[in-house]
Amino acid sequence: MEYSMTGRFTIEDYRYYSRQPSFKEGKDNGPKLKTREKVNIDLNVELENGKGCSFVWMHLVEGFKLPSVYIIRLFNKYTSKQVGVMIQILNEMRLLLKQPIFKWIEKLMENFKTPILCIQLGPSTHVIIVTTPELACEFLHKQDEIFMSRPEILSAELVSDGYLSAILAPFGDQWRKMRKVLHEHLLSSQSHRWLEPKRNEEANHLLSYICNQIAKQENVVDGGLINIRIVSRHFCANVMTKIVFGTRLFGDGMEAGGSAEEEGAHLTALFTILKYLYAFCITDYFPWLRGKIDIDGHEKKTRKALEIIRKYQDPLIDERIRMWKKGARTETSDLLDALITHENPKLTPNEIKSQIVELMIATIDNPSNAVEWAMAEMINQPVLLERAVKELDCVVGRNRLVEERDLPQLNYLKACIKECFRLHPFAPLNPPHVPIKDTTVAGYLIPKGSHVMLSRRGLGRNPDVWEDPLRFDPERHLTWEESRVVLSDDDLTMISFSTGKRGCPGVVLGSTITTMLLARMVQGFSWGLLCKVDLAEGNDDPCLAKPLVAVAKPRLPNHLYPED
Ligand code: HEM
Repeated sequence: MEYSMTGRFTIEDYRYYSRQPSFKEGKDNGPKLKTREKVNIDLNVELENGKGCSFVWMHLVEGFKLPSVYIIRLFNKYTSKQVGVMIQILNEMRLLLKQPIFKWIEKLMENFKTPILCIQLGPSTHVIIVTTPELACEFLHKQDEIFMSRPEILSAELVSDGYLSAILAPFGDQWRKMRKVLHEHLLSSQSHRWLEPKRNEEANHLLSYICNQIAKQENVVDGGLINIRIVSRHFCANVMTKIVFGTRLFGDGMEAGGSAEEEGAHLTALFTILKYLYAFCITDYFPWLRGKIDIDGHEKKTRKALEIIRKYQDPLIDERIRMWKKGARTETSDLLDALITHENPKLTPNEIKSQIVELMIATIDNPSNAVEWAMAEMINQPVLLERAVKELDCVVGRNRLVEERDLPQLNYLKACIKECFRLHPFAPLNPPHVPIKDTTVAGYLIPKGSHVMLSRRGLGRNPDVWEDPLRFDPERHLTWEESRVVLSDDDLTMISFSTGKRGCPGVVLGSTITTMLLARMVQGFSWGLLCKVDLAEGNDDPCLAKPLVAVAKPRLPNHLYPED
């Protein structure tokens, strides 16, 4: 069969192509298609059929044994005779959604050798994945004004209490209002300076916590075994709790400056929310099932986690609102006060509560994951760790603790963090951007309401952009032109904070928390291992499969370590 690159493919061409064994095995020995043409053709075929773009479907029927889009068509043709088939389909869906969907998508894109893929999920949702910076810029630079909404899906609705908060709200007045409050007030540079003493308290507590852990193990090992995942996650949550509520702990706290049981439960619940947010919940694609059945269990787990978070947070918020009303509080000393006293626009208690949940989840994952990976990679290659230590000794010295004012000069340390954002992002996919109208991007029709997701892993590991992409190499971010390493990513060659109207408004705070955490750990302690670091990724997410546990020994004069 002839394959014309200039003419349009037909369904028959596709059927022939997808039947080839090499294609099914993903070896692609068949006709050499330019990926862009492949996608275009599919969109065209589907548009001719009046169904929008459904790139994968034909391959699923003819070749791969992946059920998702196949399911859709059967549902469309549903008759009473097909009840058995439907039950089987639901089982297949269950299986599909048990495995991490991002790995399935990665494999699909690898097999198709395409930088953009459209998967139709359910009867009408087009999920579009993008892995090149050129295409990513088309969406978030050129057509940012169009791609500035978010999908209305179950997890987002639950977490934001009906889309009251900024990250999860679809485009509209509520999003504008909350984004303005964050951007212009809570996360402004003035507010950042105002809250520095609170962040410092937590940076000091970090050292005292590690020292206490070491002291407890004095007779067991030389130094102390530290679970870097626990330390990093608690640090991020504690900083946020401190700047929002003015306090670190919800409960009484444990001995040795450790974390209280309540703090642990709160943190676990926050990570549960993150796990199920934008996590391809089945009822998002079959909305008529919503409220009737919770096939994959996402709803139950999200509701339970939210209940725990709100159990700890909401009473503090209610009490504070009462204090302001009674006049028992008159000075603004943290972000909760700032939210309660905000004028023009005034915020309701429910808006405050859901925005605070969102601020917590926005802050804990990326910094802690990047630092855990950075420590793992650096301990694994001690020359990198030595270089980071040297930089700290040179910029700060050994006679005082690293402070926020030092962070802009710690370029090597920031390069290590940036390399982790590139290679090991906590979330494999960026939150979905939804176009508010039909549009064409780089020649592809993108229907209104599609879920466009830039692949953070796909971009960060794209071999056309990054040389030897799987190698951890902080040097690649240290270029002559860039005298200062910044963690942001405006060119979308990778994604750290993203860009445009829905880009992260917490760049400064997020960069500060991440860099300070790594800087204090590297400056304060020398790190070693009892056995080699296992750099394997988890099965379900791109975090380290096993939490990093390393041996820490203080390396600064004793008097510099704060006491708790
Ligand atoms: C290292 C830390 C952080 C990283 C890597 C990060 C990354 C991101 C990314 C990738 C997005 C999605 C952007 C998009 O949809 O294109 C985002 C959105 C957002 N982030 Fe962050 N973030 C961090 C810290 C923070 C902090 C500390 C806050 C605030 C306390 C914050 C608040 C937000 C908000 C409100 C949005 C949603 C913006 C919108 O939809 O309008 N982030 N962040």
